[in-house]
Amino acid sequence: MASSETINYGDIHGSILEYEKTYERSLGGWREGDQVSFASVELEVGRLWHSLVLLLQPHLVLETGTFKGYSTACIASALVTLGGDRRVITIDPEPQPGQIWEGTDLESVISLRPQKSEDAFPELAGAKMQFDMLVLDSDHHYDTIMTELMLYEPLLKEGGTILMHDSLFFDGVGAATRQLLANPRFRGVAFDSPRRVLPDVRCPGVTLVRKERAGGPELFFEEQYRGWFDGDVWTPPLLRA
Ligand SMILES: C[S@@+](CC[C@H](N)C(=O)[O-])C[C@H]1O[C@@H](n2cnc3c(N)ncnc32)[C@H](O)[C@@H]1O
Repeated sequence: MASSETINYGDIHGSILEYEKTYERSLGGWREGDQVSFASVELEVGRLWHSLVLLLQPHLVLETGTFKGYSTACIASALVTLGGDRRVITIDPEPQPGQIWEGTDLESVISLRPQKSEDAFPELAGAKMQFDMLVLDSDHHYDTIMTELMLYEPLLKEGGTILMHDSLFFDGVGAATRQLLANPRFRGVAFDSPRRVLPDVRCPGVTLVRKERAGGPELFFEEQYRGWFDGDVWTPPLLRA
C-alpha cells in the first residue's frame, strides 16, 4: 500500500493483509521459504490486538518484542483509523530488517526503539510517559517478563490494559502472569490461542488484563522462578496447574 493511500475506519491495513498471505492456519505459523516460523503472534491474535485497540481506543501503547512488526502493524492500523494523537512505542534490541509497515502510512504512529525493554525504561519514565496499554511479547524468560511488568506497570494508567502472548506455552511468562492475576489491583483472563507446534503440545495463549487501580500491593520478583523458561510443554501450563 502506498503511503498516501488511506484506509476506511476499522479496516485492516494493506501491509498486514500482504503478510497474512504467508499464514499457515493449520499450524498457526508463518511460512518463510520452506520453513514455518512461530515468532510472530498468530493471525487470530494480531486481529484480536487490532480489535482491542479499536474497542479501548488507547492514545499511547507500549509494546515489547517487535520482531517483523506484525503485531505492531495490527496495533498501528487501528490507531491510524481511530485518528487523533495516537502512537505505539515498540521496543526490540534485534528487530528484523524490513518491518512490514516500512514505507507505509503506519510509520506515522510507530516509534521503534532498538534496545532491550529494560534499557528503554529510564528515558520513557524520565519523560513521564503514561501508557494506556502494554503489549508484552519479548523474551519469554521469567526474569524478562517480570522485570517488564515491575518497570512498566507503574507507567500504565488506571483502567489501562495489559495484553500478553505466550503465557500458557512458556511457564516463565505463566509464573509472572499468575502473580499479576492474583494481585487484587488487576482483573484478567487467559485464553487459548490456535497455534499448535505439535499435536498435544500447549498452545501459546493470550492473557488480557485490566488495571483496576494504582498503588499496592506492588508486583515483585519471585526468586523461585528465576531463569524459568518453557517448562514441560506436554504437561498442563503452570498458569492452569
Ligand atoms: C516473539 S517475538 C515478537 C513478535 C511480535 N510481537 C509479533 O507478534 O509480530 C520476540 C521478540 O522479542 C525480542 N526481544 C528479546 N529480548 C527482548 C528484550 N529484553 N526487550 C525487548 N524485546 C526483546 C526479540 O528480539 C524478538 O524479536
